[in-house]
Amino acid sequence: MSKKPVILGIESSCDETAVALLRENNLGEPEILSNIVSSQVDIHKEFGGVVPELAARAHIEKIDLITKKALDESGINLNDIDAVATTSGPGLIVCLSVGINFGKAIAASLKKPFIAVNHLEGHALSPKLNSKINYPYLLLLISGGHSQFLCVEGLGKYKRLGTTIDDAAGEAFDKTAKLLGIEFPGGPQIEVLAKKGDPKKFNLPKPIINKGGCNLSFAGLKTAILRISKNIKNEKDKYDLAASFQKTMEEILYKKSKVAFQEFNNINKNKNKTFVVAGGVAANKKIREVLIRLCKEENFEAIFPPINLCGDNAAMIAFAGLEKFKQNQFNSLDFPAKPRWQLDENAVFLKGAGVKI
Ligand code: KG4
Ligand code: ZN
Repeated sequence: MSKKPVILGIESSCDETAVALLRENNLGEPEILSNIVSSQVDIHKEFGGVVPELAARAHIEKIDLITKKALDESGINLNDIDAVATTSGPGLIVCLSVGINFGKAIAASLKKPFIAVNHLEGHALSPKLNSKINYPYLLLLISGGHSQFLCVEGLGKYKRLGTTIDDAAGEAFDKTAKLLGIEFPGGPQIEVLAKKGDPKKFNLPKPIINKGGCNLSFAGLKTAILRISKNIKNEKDKYDLAASFQKTMEEILYKKSKVAFQEFNNINKNKNKTFVVAGGVAANKKIREVLIRLCKEENFEAIFPPINLCGDNAAMIAFAGLEKFKQNQFNSLDFPAKPRWQLDENAVFLKGAGVKI
């Protein structure tokens, strides 16, 4: 039997240093051999956000140790790697450069192919790590830097149907958390606090909810939270605002996904109706519930990555690398770090859509 490809994946686009080893098993399915994520939360929390210079420094300090740990855990010898897949954008250039140069150096020394992976493509394909999904599918990518609806037509073939015209969904979660006095990154904490609050207490705006197709906007919501948060008097108010914010998010994503379903159906008549939700915010259980309900109503199949693969990780980068490896899609060692790298390169560039933070 021919040797199944083993891919080393490296991710350093923002504040997570991550390395993974992935192999295709005999059934042709991806098998994660190791998946190490080192978060820099403790470094950045006193600043209330990611400080690029500190992030880059931490990547430099950690990347070889994390790689050694990933290799040890996988039981794979460096010489058995078939290709090195590295996030090459979008993201913070000083951070991307650390991973990309490290990945290139390993590829060059092993004389193995180097594969430049778009971080967003990693998220877009991440649900394929544990589910069989046929192309085309509708993707909602909701992370700290992006909120987009895309029609995924195949590997590397993305058609953007809608995008945020200002902030990303994850950014709105993080900013709301900050206004409620929760330490960075507060997005996941909103989910916890929301359970204790009354979601009907505050009536918050849903910008462009009835216009703009499946484009999204969260800036007006953030401004409303800023105004209300100034009058928060006690813990109960805090819980109510978290619950009201999360409920508003659920309603926006429900409504806009419904519009995206129509657009997807118009261009993919008689094709599978699969809705994939990926990115950090896809870890939110209430948002999952609401989108699963919508899928039932609209006869779509809902697919999410496992919670631990929603946020940034290198297993998804290695997997995108594996898919490209199988199609001989390699990159030369002069491939640059691309801080702005849209998935649909034909889509009009909008600030906030294709920029990590
Ligand atoms: O995909 P990701 O790890 O990084 C980017 O590529 O941006 O997404 C991070 C974002 C952050 O804004 C974080 O607050 C948000 O995902 N997030 C959540 C939850 N877990 C992470 N937002 C809402 N609910 C959660 N449970
Ligand atoms: Zn990400």
